[in-house]
Amino acid sequence: MKKLLTSIAEALKPAFAANGYDESYAKVTLSNRPDLCEYQCNGAMAAAKAYKKKPIDIASQVADHLSGHPMFTRITAVMPGFINIRLSEEYLAGYMNSMEKEPKFGLEETGKGERVIVDYGGANVAKPLHVGHLRSAIIGESVKRLGRFLGYDMIGDVHLGDWGLQMGLIIEELRDRQPDLVYFDESYEGAYPEEPPFTIGELEDIYPAASAKSKEDETFKARAHEATLKLQSGYKPFKAIWQHIMNVSLADLKKNYGSLGVTFDLWKGESDAQSYIPDLIEDLQKKGLAYESQGALVVDIAQENDSKELPPCIIRKSDGAALYATSDLGTILDREKKLAPNRYIYITDKRQELHFIQVFRVAKKAGYVKEDTPMIHVMFGTMNGKDGKPFKTRDGGVMRLENLIGEINDAVYERIMENRTVSAEEARKTAKIIGLAALKYGDLSNQASKDYVFDMDRFISFEGNTGPYILYTIVRIKSILSKYQDMGKELSQDSGILPAVSEAEKNLMLLLARYNEVMENSFGEIAPHKICQFIYELSDGFNKFYNSTMILKEEDERRQSSYIRLITLTKGVLETCIDVLGFQAPERM
Ligand code: ARG
Repeated sequence: MKKLLTSIAEALKPAFAANGYDESYAKVTLSNRPDLCEYQCNGAMAAAKAYKKKPIDIASQVADHLSGHPMFTRITAVMPGFINIRLSEEYLAGYMNSMEKEPKFGLEETGKGERVIVDYGGANVAKPLHVGHLRSAIIGESVKRLGRFLGYDMIGDVHLGDWGLQMGLIIEELRDRQPDLVYFDESYEGAYPEEPPFTIGELEDIYPAASAKSKEDETFKARAHEATLKLQSGYKPFKAIWQHIMNVSLADLKKNYGSLGVTFDLWKGESDAQSYIPDLIEDLQKKGLAYESQGALVVDIAQENDSKELPPCIIRKSDGAALYATSDLGTILDREKKLAPNRYIYITDKRQELHFIQVFRVAKKAGYVKEDTPMIHVMFGTMNGKDGKPFKTRDGGVMRLENLIGEINDAVYERIMENRTVSAEEARKTAKIIGLAALKYGDLSNQASKDYVFDMDRFISFEGNTGPYILYTIVRIKSILSKYQDMGKELSQDSGILPAVSEAEKNLMLLLARYNEVMENSFGEIAPHKICQFIYELSDGFNKFYNSTMILKEEDERRQSSYIRLITLTKGVLETCIDVLGFQAPERM
């Protein structure tokens, strides 16, 4: 289904053409003066320069040409040369009826099966998740869902950090704690136990302890390095420990991501890239891209028009340890070979900007990724606490996702119990659903690149630009619909959605008509906050309509039926949007 803006522009084109102007001037936008009109066209201003005429004259010719057009109730030229447009109620109602009938409410599936890798989540195995991982998971999940909804073949990959120094640290700490384990017996030749030598609880304790120790104890640090290198070069006993670490952590990570409503198509990691690296390095050398510099192997990535000097990408350090960039390049080779994506999207915090510039440039320079394949790094800001510093938990420690979610759920639970009469059990269930919406919407409603403050009280509020407010609106519609059903009524089949009879009703329709456009733009710009802004305005529009309209007391059956259809459409659009954002509405709240 055509976007409304496109349809209006198409109606304007013949009016430009008939007066001798190029029809490309018929561009239409939402009005920035909603008090004066609903849409506007500024094309006459641009045309004035090209045709050396007064803008107002061109605008008047176009507006006059369109007077009486069934799409508009009013189309006027105003100084200095704007064309102000009000849509006719009939036309708008027709648009609503088409939305109601079309699959996905008339959304155009622009993706056409194009394959997109979304690299998000990025947890580091056996290390605590931090707020950056939380943001990456929340933003990435919504980007993936949105793309999928638009018809792209989205493949989400968690890209675990599973090959770094943390592994050596854990191995050596384990040796100190349990020196008798067979993994540390060099003469052991049997099979390794299937049971892991630690639980997830112990593992969570081992890493921070080892990390702290390595900061004070140089020899321990050296041992951890050594163990990491040994693991990376395939030393069997350490590979066996590594596998235990992976198994135990992965189960826990899946649980954590699951409670966030985040799922991945691929659970790959840096370790999966390692087999590509020897050939990769050789190839980069053969192509004359990689060269020795101070004992390391590097590739220059600077380009002439760079605004600042960019350092070369280090491919191999003198000690031969695996590097973050090299792993990412190996991963790209793996993805090209197995998936051949048309587009790459990586979602990490903005401190990784240089890393991705380097990786993308090497990948293109070496010809691993086609020149015209977009490689996009979506950079997000920090989630800060109220003190303006990166968010910490109440006790000041690193954030544990479970605790964060738990805190939000408790706060929502208390709010529900304060003024509601639902059972504690139902309140618990509902609190979980609302809590997730509060957390995700609190994050997604900000432009990703900006830092934002994690303000629990605001996020869980049922009023204002919050997740719970959106859910509250959906629940309110659900309750009207179930009352309508309880009245034993049925929708009138002949009339559909009727032309609006009030400002509030028309405004609700105008908002709904933006849906198609918003979804497409929000994916194009990778900006889920635009969907949030849209559903916030839509919820407001609905609530104004609801407050000014007696829906259930309406006596004209056709009119009432039209109202019911309109709010059902509103609910459908809201539910579609929150599903894309990655959360759901409860039945009651
Ligand atoms: N594990 C990384 C980190 O914690 C994030 C991974 C992002 N993805 C990537 N392909 N490098 O910072």
